[in-house]
Parts: sequence; C-alpha cells; structure tokens
Amino acid sequence: NTEVKAIYEHPEAYYGDKIQISGWIRSVRASNAFGFMVLNDGTCFNTIQVVMDSDLENYKELSKQNVGAAVIVEGILVETPEAKQAFEIKADKITVEGESASDYPLQKKRHGFEYLRTIAHLRPRTNTFSAVFRVRSLTAFAIHQFFNEKGFVYVHTPIITGSDCEGAGEMFRVSTLPPLEVPKTEEGNVDYKEDFFGKEANLTVSGQLNVETYAMAFRNVYTFGPTFRAENSNTPRHAAEFWMIEPEMAFADLKDDMNLAEEMIKYIIRYVREKAPEEMAFFNQFVDKSLFERLDKVANSDFERVTYTEAVEMLLNSGKDFEYPVSWGADLQTEHERYLTEEVFNKPVFVTDYPKDIKAFYMKMNEDGKTVAAMDLLVPGVGEIIGGSQREDDLDKLLGRMEAMGLNEEDYWWYLDIRKYGGTRHAGFGLGFERMIMYITGMSNIRDVVSFPRTVHNLEI
Ligand code: 4AD
Ligand code: MG
Repeated sequence: NTEVKAIYEHPEAYYGDKIQISGWIRSVRASNAFGFMVLNDGTCFNTIQVVMDSDLENYKELSKQNVGAAVIVEGILVETPEAKQAFEIKADKITVEGESASDYPLQKKRHGFEYLRTIAHLRPRTNTFSAVFRVRSLTAFAIHQFFNEKGFVYVHTPIITGSDCEGAGEMFRVSTLPPLEVPKTEEGNVDYKEDFFGKEANLTVSGQLNVETYAMAFRNVYTFGPTFRAENSNTPRHAAEFWMIEPEMAFADLKDDMNLAEEMIKYIIRYVREKAPEEMAFFNQFVDKSLFERLDKVANSDFERVTYTEAVEMLLNSGKDFEYPVSWGADLQTEHERYLTEEVFNKPVFVTDYPKDIKAFYMKMNEDGKTVAAMDLLVPGVGEIIGGSQREDDLDKLLGRMEAMGLNEEDYWWYLDIRKYGGTRHAGFGLGFERMIMYITGMSNIRDVVSFPRTVHNLEI
C-alpha cells in the first residue's frame, strides 16, 4: 500500500509505477464510457483522483458507490500536466471494502459548521475538519518540542483534585462512591468524610498549584492536559472541558513570563505555517482571508505591553459607547478586549498589573498594594488566550490574601510548604489550547476545534 502523502511529496518517484492505495470516496462521477473517483486516504489533507475505465469488471458496481465508501485501488500513477492536479491514478482494479449507506450525511457540497457539530463523529472526514484536527495534532507536537528544546520537564498533574486553583468555585464534582451511593450526614447533606477520598473531590480547573511544587525541584516545568470548568457561559470561546498548557519557572519574574509566552506563540505559528502548508492555505482561502497576513505579522513583530491602568485609560478615552461600563477595578469584557486588540493595537497585547480583587489569590502583590503581577495575553479575534502571573512567594502575604479571600489554610498546607522550604521568585502562565487553535486556523467557535465538544447542555456524542 502506498500513502497518498508520499505520492504528493515525490510524485516523480511514482510516475508509471503500479501502486495500490486505500481510502474513502469523496466523490464519484461516472458515464457509460469512464468515470472518476476522488479519494482521501487519511495520510494527508490532499485527495487523489482515480480514473475508472468502463471495462473494469465491476464498473457498474463502482459507479453506484456512495460518498464515504472504503475502497482499495490498484493502478498506474500517471502525470497529467494539463489538469488541475498534476497526477491521477489509472485504475486496473478497484475493490470495495466497506460500502456506505445511501443516507450518508456528508455530500460533496459544503455543509454549515452548526450542522456538522451534530455529526461530530463524521465531520473529521470533511476538508475543514481534516485541516483543523491535523493542525491541532501538529500544534500539540510543536508545543512539546518548544519546551523540550528549552529543557523544560513535562509534568503530569492530577485530573482529580481536592483544591480549587482559581478559587472561582467553577468545579465539576466527582461522584466517588460506586455505585453512586452518596453518603449522607444526619441533616441529609453529602458526607464527604465518608466518601471515597474522605473529602470533597472535583475535576481540576488548572494544574498550576501542583506544577508550582515541581518548579521548585526541576526549575523549568510545564503541564499539558485536560482541565474542566463548570462555567455557565454559552459563548464561542468557552468549553467545559479544554486543554491547557501551563509552564512554570523558578527564579523568574513577570517579564520572564511574558517573554516566554511571546516566544512560544511565535514558535507555534512558525512551526505550523511550515509543517502544514496545505491545511493553512485552506484556512487562508476558505475560513479567514487575512489569516496569513495576520499570523506573519504576529510571528515577526513584538507584542504590545500595557498595564491594566493604562488600558482602562484608553477605554475611557476611546469615545466608544460600550455595553459594559469601564471603570478601574472592573474586569475587562469581551468588547473591551476587542477594542484594544482590534482597534488600538491590531496585534497581540499583554495587559499587566490587574487590580488584586479581580485576580486569583496566588498572584504576587505589587508595591502599590492594589495591583498584582498578573498578565493576560489578548489577541485580535479570540480575546484572552493566556492568563499568567508571578506568584506570591512571601508566605505571610500569601496567607493574608488567602484569609481575605476566605480560603482555608489547611487545604493548601502543601502549597504553602514550598514558600517555607527554599521558596524563590517564580512565575508561569496558562495557554488555552483550543483558543490557540482558533487563533492559528481562524475558526471562530471553540466547538469547531474540539473533537467532541463539551459545553452547556451538550454531551450528545
Ligand atoms: O486565565 P486562566 O483561568 O488561568 C489559569 O487557570 C492559571 N492557573 C494559569 C496559570 O497561571 N498556570 O486560564 C488560562 C487560559 C485562559 O487564558 C484561556 O485561554 C483558557 O485558559 N481558558 C479556557 N478555554 C476554553 N474554555 C474555557 N472555559 C476556558 N477557561 C480558560
Ligand atoms: Mg484568565
């Protein structure tokens, strides 16, 4: 069996050769004299055309095949300089390995993304989703390679946790006692002490607290895994299950953190532009016509850096009539992020030093006592793709913040320990993997960059 990918890489090596390929039918056209079959074999984004002469013994059967059928083709690869594609296969023999029923939902025409979400198990067979999920796979590899080249240690942090990293209470609870027999207190509440773990358990919202402890041993580390948030926000940018990349560096501050984030984003863009030329050309043509221009600019120019206070000034002086009011102390809304990234800067921008009250307990307090050493990276089109910070390394200050935010010291004893035993400056961030994929591909809904999206009221497939 020859891979179509190999043929596209070096067609001249196969011209005139008898080859065998196997794949799935994308389209069939047949007249009495001859017919064409277009196949995708899964090894690359490209399809290949097969020419069928009517003297093939099962020609009738072949010309009636539906889109989606699995076939094995034997034939000669011939050069076709005049045609749209540089080559095609002249078939000697075609066997049908798996027929496709006539109600196959994917046809040659373009289907809407919304409809394709209802058949998430079939949509990877379309051009768009073939490109999306190839790029997603490649991006994951690029990220591992980036950190590997820099000597970062990949740490697998737990999925089930007993703490809430972001302190936002947006956790999915894990039902632990099989078979779902929840122990009750006398008052009828769930008695977690009697449950599997002896305490309340939930799915992690972030691996950060755990990975911070590893940074104090390996210096530079990262996690890359699934995270879960029970945010009741039905937006094109929020999923209940998403993947996050979270590097953490010891002996590093907020500037080092931003430098790493910028280097990583540029590395990913260059890598994918180079390694997925067909897929990226497809996105640039069919999904977002300014994609290449935008990405190339990002890869080759410095990101902007402004403080939250400066950003608020810009918003207040914008003369815009925002739906949500702008005031120092309030979190930035999507419309504010859009204004900054799309109208003011037109490139990625780090917003730093947010008011302490709208950020998590672990961020390092600045000298003003009002803001923390936080950074969010906002990008045109997607908004926030990274959230990060320098961490509070002063034990007393950290305890003070925890108390002020109503967090229970006993639950975090191990996290506090790393401030006691050789604590150092350290900083890290979280990149939302899906939002990065949206950014690279131009796809505008998170549901279209996740294989089987989990969002509010959606767990069908
Ligand atoms: O800003 P967040 O909440 O930061 C953290 O979780 C930190 N503990 C990270 C760290 O410093 N190690 O989330 C980080 C990123 C966001 O910028 C966003 O890209 C993504 O995770 N994200 C989501 N992506 C999809 N769906 C959701 N519901 C998301 N929530 C956050
Ligand atoms: Mg955030």
